[in-house]
Amino acid sequence: MRELLDLLVRWVHLIAGIMWIGNSMLWNWLDRNLRPRAGAPEGFEGEIWMVHSGGFYQMEKKQLAPSQMPEVLHWFKWQAYTTWMSGFALLLLVYYMGDASFLVDPAVAKISHGAAMGIGMGSLIGGFLVYDLIWRSPLRTKEPVAITLCFVLLAAIIYGLNHLLSGRAAFIHVGALLGSIMVGNVFFHIMPSQRELIALTKAGKRQDAKLGKHAKQRSIHNNYMTFPVLFIMLSNHFPSTYGNSLNWLVLAVLMVAGALVRHFMNIRFWWRGWLAGIASTVIIGVGITFALTTRSSDPPPAAAATNPQEKVDFTAVRIVVGQRCVPCHSAKPTDDQWKVPPNNVVFDSPEQIKMYAERIKTRAVITKTMPFGNKTGMTQDERDLLARWFLQGSPIE
Ligand code: HEC
Repeated sequence: MRELLDLLVRWVHLIAGIMWIGNSMLWNWLDRNLRPRAGAPEGFEGEIWMVHSGGFYQMEKKQLAPSQMPEVLHWFKWQAYTTWMSGFALLLLVYYMGDASFLVDPAVAKISHGAAMGIGMGSLIGGFLVYDLIWRSPLRTKEPVAITLCFVLLAAIIYGLNHLLSGRAAFIHVGALLGSIMVGNVFFHIMPSQRELIALTKAGKRQDAKLGKHAKQRSIHNNYMTFPVLFIMLSNHFPSTYGNSLNWLVLAVLMVAGALVRHFMNIRFWWRGWLAGIASTVIIGVGITFALTTRSSDPPPAAAATNPQEKVDFTAVRIVVGQRCVPCHSAKPTDDQWKVPPNNVVFDSPEQIKMYAERIKTRAVITKTMPFGNKTGMTQDERDLLARWFLQGSPIE
């Protein structure tokens, strides 16, 4: 039942997110490609012609003249609200209503499930309030200062969360914070500005350009956050990003790289410069990430294995896997939370263990992201034993 609910909410979350982010990209692209028109009336800001799905579209950006309210006006807000609501529901469903192993990793910090929930929620609410205050304050006109300040604070939150919560929970909370800031921008700033623009027009008054500018500033913030958030949504499938001692740095680097790629896509640019900008960001970002994830997988399996020569008896490996992994990874799991084997990965027979040897190494020796939340209490000695077993070619007899 829970899994079905998870699937349903996730599906909604993905659809709404695609619609919201798709809109955000399209509108930013439109703004960049608007053209002036000779002899255009006052209030005209630009126009664009497009061809799509078998027809031509002409779009004009303009301020409305007093009292010139169109009969039907479309809004774009439910995409954002639905994305946030489904995302928040997922956070509760998966991380808060699940057992502590989702939020807490004893190797990171020995805290209770309740404390972890408090830290998670606190970071969301606190992070949003601080961001909003900064951009309401006079600092908002000094953009370079405000952006630097926000980034330093965000880096502090990333560092803190990655030292308090399990890696994957820390990543997801950073994503949830950015998502909440984005939807907060829509709800508290962009929508009210638009409502005021409409109210002025209806009252037969001129539009206040400041309102549009304010909404646009927040909308651009949202636009820069899209790529980092999308990476975080995927990150849970990539244990080497969240499962190492420098995971906070990996996250920070990939977020900057994502925002930079967005930036190159946003600015008007000579196309070769544009391509070079994106390509070098991707290459540098991936390069640093590779260096960080390989360097910090402490200790590497070869060094981890004390007495690598000492012959490992497969029976010992089987016992360790049986105690620490099989409670979840079995055709019939005994774990209280996992009733079907996660990812369909099963270690019931020697052949199955052998088949997954490479992944077992990645998850239990290098990234130490398994056992999940170390729920079954695997020790370093047992990880060392597995490391030695791999070095000797993972024999099963
Ligand atoms: C408390 C339950 C639990 C225990 C115990 C557990 N796992 Fe997992 N395992 C999971 C969950 C949940 C997933 C899916 C999420 C993920 O990949 O992080 C998973 C996924 C995996 C995968 C498939 C994904 C991939 O990276 O290839 C492997 C391999 C794996 N676990 C190995 C292990 C090993 C080795 C152990 C024992 C050292 C272990 N697990 C113990 C819950 C558990």
